[in-house]
Amino acid sequence: MLPLKEKDKAIVGKLLASGCCARCVLRFCCIGVPDAYRHGRRETLRQLRAFAEENHDCQNVGQLEPARKRSRLESEEAADEDEGVCVVCLGVLQHLSDASQAVQIADAVKKEKYEVDTLVLSISLPAQVCVRERSCWLPPCHFDQRSPRLARAKCGALGRRDVVQVKEAFKWIVQGPLARELGAVAVAAKSPLEVSVCFAHPETDADCHFLASTCPDCFKVSKNKQSAFTRMAVAKALEKIPDDKFLERSPRPPSRPSSGCAPPEVRCVHASVLAAFGARGFNFSSSGREDVDVRTLGNGRPFALELLNPRKSQLSPESMKNVQQVINASSEKVRVRDLQMVGRDAASRMKEGEEEKTKSYRALVWTQKSIREDDVAFVNRIEDLRVDQKTPLRVLHRRALAVRQRLVHSMSADLLDEHHFRLGLRTQAGTYIKEFVHGDFGRTKPNLCQLLDTHADILELDVESVDVDWPPALPD
Ligand SMILES: *[C@@H]1O[C@H](CO)[C@@H](O)[C@H](O)[C@H]1NC(C)=O
Ligand SMILES: *[C@@H]1O[C@H](CO)[C@@H](O)[C@H](O)[C@H]1NC(C)=O
Ligand SMILES: [Zn+2]
Repeated sequence: MLPLKEKDKAIVGKLLASGCCARCVLRFCCIGVPDAYRHGRRETLRQLRAFAEENHDCQNVGQLEPARKRSRLESEEAADEDEGVCVVCLGVLQHLSDASQAVQIADAVKKEKYEVDTLVLSISLPAQVCVRERSCWLPPCHFDQRSPRLARAKCGALGRRDVVQVKEAFKWIVQGPLARELGAVAVAAKSPLEVSVCFAHPETDADCHFLASTCPDCFKVSKNKQSAFTRMAVAKALEKIPDDKFLERSPRPPSRPSSGCAPPEVRCVHASVLAAFGARGFNFSSSGREDVDVRTLGNGRPFALELLNPRKSQLSPESMKNVQQVINASSEKVRVRDLQMVGRDAASRMKEGEEEKTKSYRALVWTQKSIREDDVAFVNRIEDLRVDQKTPLRVLHRRALAVRQRLVHSMSADLLDEHHFRLGLRTQAGTYIKEFVHGDFGRTKPNLCQLLDTHADILELDVESVDVDWPPALPD
């Protein structure tokens, strides 16, 4: 039995006559019971028709002979087969929420091979569904077309807000079959994996256009949107337009489209990995740092991420690999390896030895004077050179002025041409390499300019390796 009340009777009849599908009728009657939407739509339609007819039957009692009554029911059954495309949901709550659609959505998700145990469904509907809904929602009171304002006042608090959303009804119908189809994946209210189901209905896109003249401010064409008639903009314009204006411009009931929405586009997006842990935030720390224009080659730079107040504190090795994959795929610029859970002490171990450890660099150096093989030999012979570095000018705005002593363990120069050579350096961590090359106006002493007795500058710099034995490498 449908949880309908006597007062719904008039609305049900009117809505059916307007071309609303059975489930939209339930929505407009503010039926908030998910199960009511899960029954077969033909059966629901039959019940709604019978319910609306009861009234009629009472009025005409005695006039209808049993035989005529039966034939009317039979013709209704034939009509069931041809409900027509719903004028409000444009088919979304009809054939597009059938079990076969759930299978298609599930297939689209499976294809992406996410290793997750939940997903959240997000539904995107054509904006004109809002317009169509508004023109149907004027019942029950608004069926009095002469005085919509008065009727609205009579409607009282039970307003549009109580109407069940198309999205909501769609989820109620589809989530069960979808979860069954996906096996171990539950459809949840929140999940890092968002499955967007996007419906479009180009045939009726023009339904919204009249709103542009009633609220020009609501519709601004932006560069990256295909149309100014977004759901947000349409909803805003609908908020502003008074009922009588709306009724002047929008057909009521809405026109019957010739076909429903096409099967939806399904897109899957996994939230950034931190969301996988449900953390409140994070602290990022890494072993040393370089200027943005310095590449770190080799195995990369060790880093640690402290997750603050995570909801989830363990991740299986497979899930961890999945996280790594998501990071790798998220950008051309970032790759991570050997991602693993470590304890709190690990971060300090990583920082430890940051000062003592040795780092290897490769630089491309330009010199003003032309250099010769004996200059190269001279550079290659230098060992454990003690260098005094005043805080470089380029970082002076954020660091205190100090003099640091660092060791340049060794260098190797490869002549490219008279004015360029490749310089390999092994230095104590924390050495300002750029300053060691160009001298920073004499703030770093000795420096390469002095050593070679020429102007020199550094054109490229790469970190070849960060020699920390951390974190442990993982088997592949
Ligand atoms: C991490 O961040 C929190 C909150 O910002 C802060 O209180 C805490 O000291 C930080 N921990 C470390 C190790 O930096
Ligand atoms: C991510 O990229 C790094 C660096 O290329 C690679 O070592 C690692 O195996 C990748 N991880 C996954 C799960 O693809
Ligand atoms: Zn409908």
